[in-house]
Amino acid sequence: MTPYDSACPDSETNLSDMSGEQIRSVAEELLQANRDLKLLNHRLSDAQNKLVQSEKLASIGQLAAGVAHEINNPIGFIFSNFGTLTQYLDDLFKMLAAYEACEPLIADAQARQCVLNTKKDIDIDYLKQDIPNLMRESRDGIQRVKKIVQDLKDFSRVDARQEWEYVDLHNGIDSTLNIVNNEIKYKADVVKQYSQLPEVQCLPSALNQVFLNLLVNAAQAITSERGTITIQTGVQGQHVWVDIADNGAGIAQENLQKIFDPFFTTKPVGKGTGLGLSLSYGIVQKHGGRLEVSSTVGLGTNFRITLPVHQPVQDTPA
Ligand SMILES: Nc1ncnc2c1ncn2[C@@H]1O[C@H](COP(=O)(O)OP(=O)(O)OP(=O)(O)O)[C@@H](O)[C@H]1O
Ligand SMILES: [Mg+2]
Repeated sequence: MTPYDSACPDSETNLSDMSGEQIRSVAEELLQANRDLKLLNHRLSDAQNKLVQSEKLASIGQLAAGVAHEINNPIGFIFSNFGTLTQYLDDLFKMLAAYEACEPLIADAQARQCVLNTKKDIDIDYLKQDIPNLMRESRDGIQRVKKIVQDLKDFSRVDARQEWEYVDLHNGIDSTLNIVNNEIKYKADVVKQYSQLPEVQCLPSALNQVFLNLLVNAAQAITSERGTITIQTGVQGQHVWVDIADNGAGIAQENLQKIFDPFFTTKPVGKGTGLGLSLSYGIVQKHGGRLEVSSTVGLGTNFRITLPVHQPVQDTPA
């Protein structure tokens, strides 16, 4: 039975037959029913938000985990083969040096000339100097791929269920930055101004979602020329804060009230779903924190996440 069923006067009842007292009582019941319905509605949309959020988190997590897993194995053996290859090259260079030491001993003039010509053709001195550089650069590249895979794994935390954990928020921000690097690097420089932070009790992969949403929004707000995204952190009593600021387009005053609403977006169809900030808001709220925005059109936007360092007695899985 809905609140209205109990509050609505019987259809047979005629209002004109009622006394003022009865009408007041029915009106009061209707008002109460209206309040109950609003509450119910609020709970329903809250439940719906949570469902959307967990679905989005789960699918991004699964995707990230799948990609990380697929890349992890080939990168593992490439990295290991690379170590062996470097060793083999060292040996070959040693061998080459030994042969070069023997060159003057080649009695046949034609044979000696042939060796000298080949060395000149392939520019052996340059190769000797460039091969170690190439190997070093490639090794760095592979190491970077390994790091990205590790970040993807950390980001999705496939192996762990969502649990409240004490973590260094800077690690989460850095992992997330690596993941969205491609979205940011052509548009903005990232400036980090990290303070000394205590470890914070949180749901790390959920918070990474918040960082991800804010960083991608910041990058997308920078449209004309190259901009800057500044990430600052700090402590205030029993709370920590993280500011993610950009010097992009800013948010119009009339939109500031709406940006946390689900499905509010100013981005073209297919570019934004308008869910990023509403999900982020829910996640920060779940942590007992606040997500606040300040923005000036044409100058940029700052989002501040404030989180308690410790959760009240809550250590159940999410
Ligand atoms: N840093 C920002 N600068 C300017 N506008 C912003 C910024 N962050 C959010 N907005 C505005 O708030 C709207 C809602 O943001 P939200 O992250 O919820 O959705 P979205 O980015 O449009 O889509 P989605 O995140 O689902 O891909 C954006 O469309 C944009 O108009
Ligand atoms: Mg967004």
